[in-house]
Amino acid sequence: MKILVVCGGDSNEKEVSLKTGKAVAEALRASFDDVECFICKNKKHCIEYIEKSNADKVFIALHGGWGENGELQAALDILGISYTGSNFEASCLSMNKFASKSIFKASGLPAARGILLKSRNDIEKIDFYPICIKPNKEGSSIGVEFAQSREEAEQKIERLLQQFGEIIVEEQLIGRELTVTVMDDTVFPIIEIKPKKGFYNYENKYTKGNTEYLIVDNLTHDVENICKSVAHKAYKSLGCTGCARVDIILRNNIPYILEVNTMPGMTETSLVPKSAKAQGISFEDLVKLMIGD
Ligand SMILES: Nc1ncnc2c1ncn2[C@@H]1O[C@H](COP(=O)(O)OP(=O)(O)O)[C@@H](O)[C@H]1O
Ligand SMILES: [Mg+2]
Repeated sequence: MKILVVCGGDSNEKEVSLKTGKAVAEALRASFDDVECFICKNKKHCIEYIEKSNADKVFIALHGGWGENGELQAALDILGISYTGSNFEASCLSMNKFASKSIFKASGLPAARGILLKSRNDIEKIDFYPICIKPNKEGSSIGVEFAQSREEAEQKIERLLQQFGEIIVEEQLIGRELTVTVMDDTVFPIIEIKPKKGFYNYENKYTKGNTEYLIVDNLTHDVENICKSVAHKAYKSLGCTGCARVDIILRNNIPYILEVNTMPGMTETSLVPKSAKAQGISFEDLVKLMIGD
C-alpha cells in the first residue's frame, strides 16, 4: 500500500502544515513500507502530482484554504483516490464558521450568538458587546480580535473586512477553553487550554511554553459528558468522518461550540495526539487509525 502524505501548500498555515506532514510521515513509516512525504506548492501542483503518484491513500496534512475547505477532497473524489478525514461537503461546512454555527443552532447545539459581515454597513447589525471578530474561513487564530464597544470595533472590522472579505462577529464568551477530539464514534479525553497571557492567539498556539494544556479531570461527570456529547453531535451535524477536533468555550457549564477543525494540527506536540495519548493511543497508532482499512 502506497501512502502519500501531502503538506505545505500556500495558505497562511503553511508552516504548521509542514510540521504536521513531517511528523505524520515519520510515524506512518512505523507501520507502512511505502510512505512518501510530498511538499506541494499550490493547488495545481498538488493535484497533478497526486494524480501521477499511484498512491492508494492520500494523508492530507494541509491546513487552511483549498487543502482543508473541501476543494482538494472533491478533486480526489473525482480522481477516485481515497484520502484521510472528512469528505468535501463536511470539510467545506466546517471551514465556514457561520455556516457551521447555523447548523449547530438548527441541531439544538449551543453556539455563541453571531452574525456574518460582508460590508462595513453590516456594523449596524451588531446589537451586542463585547464582541469577538474573526475571519469566517481561517484558522490558527489568524485575524481574531476583540472589541468592547462600537467605537473600538469599527476600525478593526474595516481592516479585517479588507483583509478577509467575510468576517463573523460573535458575542465574546468568557469561560474555560476546551478542545475535544472526535474520531468517528470515539470521543477522546478533553483538553483544557490555558494561555499564560492573553487569549489563545497564533503566538500562544505555536510558541512552546506559552500555553498550558491539561487533560481535564476537574469537571463533574455530568458536565464532562455534556461536553463530549455536544462535541460528538457537532461533528456529526456537519457530516465529519475520521479525526476532527471540536473547540469549545465552557460558560456556566454550557459548552458553546466555536468550530470543528477537520484538519487539526498533528505534530507530536499538537492537541489531537495529546488527547489520543490520554486515551492510550500512541502517535504511531493514531496515524495508523487515521489511514483506516
Ligand atoms: N466568541 C468568542 N469568545 C471568546 N473567545 C473566542 C471566541 N471565538 C474565538 N475565540 C478565541 O479565539 C480562538 C480562535 O477562534 P476559533 O473560532 O477557534 O478559530 P480558529 O482556531 O479557526 O482560528 C479561540 O481558541 C478562542 O481563544
Ligand atoms: Mg480553533
